[in-house]
This record gives sequence, structure tokens and C-alpha cells, in this order.
Amino acid sequence: MTENEQSAGWAAYYDKLRDRPPRKTLLAALDAFGVTPPGALALDLGCGDGRDATELLRRGWRVVAVDAEPEALRQLQARPLPPNSDVTPVVARFEEVPIPLGTLLVNSSFAMPLCEPQAFHALWDRIREGLPSGGRFSGQWYGPRDSWVDRPGITFLRREEALALLEGLELEMFEEEEADGVTPRGKSKHWHIFHIVARKP
Ligand SMILES: C[S@@+](CC[C@H](N)C(=O)[O-])C[C@H]1O[C@@H](n2cnc3c(N)ncnc32)[C@H](O)[C@@H]1O
Repeated sequence: MTENEQSAGWAAYYDKLRDRPPRKTLLAALDAFGVTPPGALALDLGCGDGRDATELLRRGWRVVAVDAEPEALRQLQARPLPPNSDVTPVVARFEEVPIPLGTLLVNSSFAMPLCEPQAFHALWDRIREGLPSGGRFSGQWYGPRDSWVDRPGITFLRREEALALLEGLELEMFEEEEADGVTPRGKSKHWHIFHIVARKP
């Protein structure tokens, strides 16, 4: 797939899912925080057109929104955002983005595994290290029975591997989902997903 085809694919994805609610992992993490801490900062990796970022802003979080596709951030900024929204759009591959000092939540919905395993592990190390005590990670990782398993540039983890990476964190959600379905772009797919919310003690 060329880069242009990939970008066109993501643009179609944003159009298709535009009105969907925030992801359940983000909502669980936000509910676990309770009242938004003053000045709270979230990093949304692979934010897409802002499905989760808008909810963070609505709840008064400051958001650094990272996506490799300029169109994602253009669409996020074109949304009707709450007044005084504090959002910093960053066009970059998330493997290369530092975790900003003071980040309380790293959210990556259906995005973090979309990089090579070595980069995924390095990113996860940085997330774990960068989060303060009481900080959280929310998002999805992919399992090996997912039908995309042969695609290059994506990381898949066995359940034990995922749990090993999460060791030492408090698991507030670890749900394994396997289902036959259809992608937002209309292709049949077997999903094997881990839905994760983890808190650093
Ligand atoms: C499946 S979409 C998910 C979007 C959004 N988080 C959501 O839950 O709807 C994945 C997003 O990650 C972005 N993405 C994929 N690989 C990336 C990478 N290595 N660095 C930054 N963004 C990436 C894509 O451009 C796309 O917007």
C-alpha cells in the first residue's frame, strides 16, 4: 500500500466513525480519575479525528493529540470544541514523540500496536517510565489470533505477553475480546483485542 492510499484509507475511516462516542477504555480511565485534577494533561497517541480527545477536552483536560496523518488533526481542530480548549496537535509518528512532563493519562485507542514490535516495546517503556504515580494508560493492544497478524508494521501480543508488560501496574480493565466482524471500511475481520486501563501505583 502506498502512503497516499494509506492516508486515503484513514480519511475514509474518520468519515465513517465521526459520530461515534468515546472509547470505553477512555471513559473507564476518566471515571477512575473522578473529578478532573486541575491542569490535568493527557497524551492521545493515534488520536484520529478526535473521538477521544474531544471527550477529554469536554471534561477539562489539556490534550496533546498526536497522529501521523495531518488530516486527522485537521478534522480534530474542525470539530466544535468546548470554549477554552487547550489542545496541542502534533503531526508525528507516536514512536518518536516524547512523553510530555506532567502527563497524567496516556490514551491510545486502537492505535498503539500500529508500529513495529521493537518500537512498540520502546514506546511502552517510555510510557511506563513517563507516567507519574497515580497516572494511567488506556487503550487497546492486539492479540495473535487477529486476522491482521500477517501484516507488517503491527505488533501482536499473546495474552501472557500483554500481562507481563502490565506487571506492576494496577489493572482496572483487562478485557480480551475475540469476534468476527466487519471493519469500518467494510472488510471481514476476526478481531482479537485487549482492552486495557492500567494505573501506576
Ligand atoms: C484505528 S485509528 C484510531 C483513531 C482513534 N484513536 C479512535 O479510537 O478512533 C488509528 C489512528 O492511528 C494513526 N496512526 C497509525 N499509526 C501511527 C503511528 N505510528 N504514529 C502516529 N499515528 C499513527 C492513524 O493515522 C489513525 O488516525
